[in-house]
Amino acid sequence: MRPKLFITRHLPGRVIEKLKEYYEVEVWPHYPPPPKSVLREKIRKVDALATLVTDKIDCSLISNAPKLRIIAQYAVGYDNIDVECATKYGIYVTNTPGVLTETVADHTWALILAISRRIVESDEYVRKGEWYHSGTGWHPMMMVGYDVYGKTLGIVGLGRIGVAVARRAKGFNMKILYYSRKRKPKLEKELGAKYVPLETLLKEADIVSLHVPLTDETYHMIGEKELKLMKKTAFLINTARGAVINTKALIKALKEKWIAGAALDVHEQEPLPPDHPLYKFKNVILTPHTGSASWEARTKMAEIVAKNLIAFAEGKIPPTLVNKEVINVRKPGFKQ
Ligand code: NAP
Ligand code: GLV
Repeated sequence: MRPKLFITRHLPGRVIEKLKEYYEVEVWPHYPPPPKSVLREKIRKVDALATLVTDKIDCSLISNAPKLRIIAQYAVGYDNIDVECATKYGIYVTNTPGVLTETVADHTWALILAISRRIVESDEYVRKGEWYHSGTGWHPMMMVGYDVYGKTLGIVGLGRIGVAVARRAKGFNMKILYYSRKRKPKLEKELGAKYVPLETLLKEADIVSLHVPLTDETYHMIGEKELKLMKKTAFLINTARGAVINTKALIKALKEKWIAGAALDVHEQEPLPPDHPLYKFKNVILTPHTGSASWEARTKMAEIVAKNLIAFAEGKIPPTLVNKEVINVRKPGFKQ
């Protein structure tokens, strides 16, 4: 009998067919995620689970999953999974690093350019007929924003995506500052990037772009104190995780004009509710957590999920294993 696999959403590409050669596969057929009650019921019965960032896999679920051996996350970030608890129970956790790096960097740059040059606001101005009714075709003060070329970019978290964002900045002749846990001398050379403490980065950057994972350390890393350090003309870009920013503090900063604006792909509450205060600001751009949303990246992510699940079914260590210590708890495969 093949092991049971529950996949919490349809994945792009042909991976489901491939996975059926190794698993008895069930796919949650709906657009919204499975409710917690469904997850709880499924997780109790299956041997393998493929999850998305929307599925909160906490220890109360994991500790009630007697057969579960692997959680294959369809994302590089895995803050929705209690990895420590999974390791304790001998459950392998995998993610999809690398294949979405350039895609998220492209999205970050789309946000950097759009917020600096008021692209979304300008589009709305034209579509709503406000430009037409203004009576002028061109005006020295119409939709004036800020240059990006030659400015200072501050990267918080110089990992895969942070580096890819910084590489693009070289084409814009930008000065690059970064803050990370560890200094990266090789990258400093390649990118011409300078390591600075977070406070210095916030004070000096014209664009602050966040690329850290969400952890206990990075939760609300950008709050009132940090926003107050930023230049009044600076923009904050977040394609990392919503909770890296204290949203209440950001709203205060926008109201009181401590910064020039923000472009956010990720949010503390997802999906953002219809009455959210962020909608009121013209100097805010919001995208619905679509940083990796290109057909190319999403297809490759699905392929990595499948590779991890197949390797595990064959008794091999999955290629992008997150909790390497789990190998000491249990060997890979369903025979253990
Ligand atoms: P990564 O290669 O692991 O890079 C993360 C970097 O953050 C690492 O270089 C790490 O620093 C740094 N870091 C971790 N904790 C830190 C801390 N407390 N203070 C300062 N720096 C810290 O990961 P990645 O592939 O670039 O992805 C980064 C994150 O982007 C993911 O975790 C995910 O949350 C988010 N993401 C979002 C989307 C989207 O759709 N918007 C898509 C993909 C990923 P060191 O190297 O110094 O240890
Ligand atoms: C998406 O947010 C990811 O972490 O891949």
